[in-house]
Amino acid sequence: MSQSGTDRIIIFDTTLRDGEQSPGASMNLEQKLQVARALRDLGVDVIEAGFAAASPGDLEAIQGVSRQIEGPIITSLSRCNKGDIAASWEALKDAPRRRCHVFLATSPIHRDFKLKMVKEEIVRRAVEGVKMAREKFDDVEFSAEDSARTELDFLVEVVERAIEAGATTVNIPDTVGYALPSTYAETIRHLKKHVRGIEKVVISVHCHNDLGLAVANSLAGVLEGARQVECTINGIGERAGNASLEEIVMACKTRADVLKLSHGVKTERLYPTSRLVAQVTGLHVQRNKAIVGQNAFAHEAGIHQHGMLTNRETYEIMKPEEVGFARSSLVLGKHSGRHALKERLVALGYQLVDAAVDKVFADFKLLADKKKEIYDADIEALVVHGQILAKGAASWTLEALSTTSGTGTLPVASVALTNAAGERRQGASAGDGPVDAVFKAIEQVTGIVVKLRDYQVTSISTGEDAQGEVTLECEHATGVYRGRALSTDIIEGSARAYLEVINRVALKTGPAVAAPLVAQGTP
Ligand code: KIV
Ligand code: ZN
Repeated sequence: MSQSGTDRIIIFDTTLRDGEQSPGASMNLEQKLQVARALRDLGVDVIEAGFAAASPGDLEAIQGVSRQIEGPIITSLSRCNKGDIAASWEALKDAPRRRCHVFLATSPIHRDFKLKMVKEEIVRRAVEGVKMAREKFDDVEFSAEDSARTELDFLVEVVERAIEAGATTVNIPDTVGYALPSTYAETIRHLKKHVRGIEKVVISVHCHNDLGLAVANSLAGVLEGARQVECTINGIGERAGNASLEEIVMACKTRADVLKLSHGVKTERLYPTSRLVAQVTGLHVQRNKAIVGQNAFAHEAGIHQHGMLTNRETYEIMKPEEVGFARSSLVLGKHSGRHALKERLVALGYQLVDAAVDKVFADFKLLADKKKEIYDADIEALVVHGQILAKGAASWTLEALSTTSGTGTLPVASVALTNAAGERRQGASAGDGPVDAVFKAIEQVTGIVVKLRDYQVTSISTGEDAQGEVTLECEHATGVYRGRALSTDIIEGSARAYLEVINRVALKTGPAVAAPLVAQGTP
């Protein structure tokens, strides 16, 4: 406990590992590095960058994070076997601060049906795994997968033996989101009371959100003495997701009177980080999501608005600025210069390098030609979209687009796209409407066919010339993919969002057959 009477909790972010396990959320190497940089700037203590043995791509990404990110501890997940631990070592050996995270399931259902191992075998494997990891790493975390459904006396035995073998952190996952705050608290309390040596290690909580209780359960564990919380940005993760990082840290900040916990997270970086993760994963944040949803600080009812004007604390327990959520206001226009834009970016919480400011400024000028008034939301969208456009390894980019439609006419579209080799290709198609015609023309050019499952257009700022954000969800034989794009023209936005989906599919499968090459300048 510190002098101020608060205890520091360790924020362990697993957006790049458990978060990436969300259906359709896979990220490429550059996107993972962008997220890792954002997590470092946010101030998390530990970044779980992947599961090195899962694929060569995962190993490469963890290696990239280890080499480029200084500050947080970088970790990789491993099963309790030699091959996995060797892969984690290979991925982490260049990290200035590294941890090996080994796991093994302990619950009866996992023992009997998944692992087909008796209790003695589980204990032996866990001990071996921790010892093998300790041969290479000073910092070793052991997770007893599905702890929340494990018999308490057996959990005590496994955790105790893992500590004896050298684990420095013991993680107690509620893998399937089955626990209630009271039962999870009881588990942590029981371990603290009965595990020999528990006072020498950090107890960690890792909760899934299947019953919508991941944050509540994590906080219940922390109140019993756990000092590490495993969580993800926007709560993304397997099935219903993991505990949401932004909710954990804002609960600690806002209810410090009860929780008496501090952390190293710079809360004003929460909103930009949330937007970045939403963008790179294609996993849209629901409007009413706590802390980072578009409506989190909106006050609709007249009585609330009146209260807010008199004293904002009548209906607001946190200030939007605390989480980096700038209130929408009219800021810049066509004649604004780079300096004004840079100042506004800083006010919005973005510390960009000069080259990135140049890119946003160029995009800003293009937008200002189409749109009279540029709002904070527009600028924020340019940063998020611009970062990806600048660095993402897109297979296809949109060069030109034209559509014809009207009452009684067959909607048709033609598109010209450039592939990764810089070759320009074009296609044309009729469709059920102009957007459908554009999608079909893109399919014709790229040879990649997907099935549209969801299509939404939302206005992200105000005014007749507001930018529309198009979000799509599509199905392909290899999985579910999401795309999102921003434009003052919703047909162009739809084309760009669709191309994002196509590029995600291409990343997984390799580009397919395409339409014939055409000369520069058409259509
Ligand atoms: O949910 C879980 O049990 C996990 C572990 C592998 C830590 O993600
Ligand atoms: Zn998990």
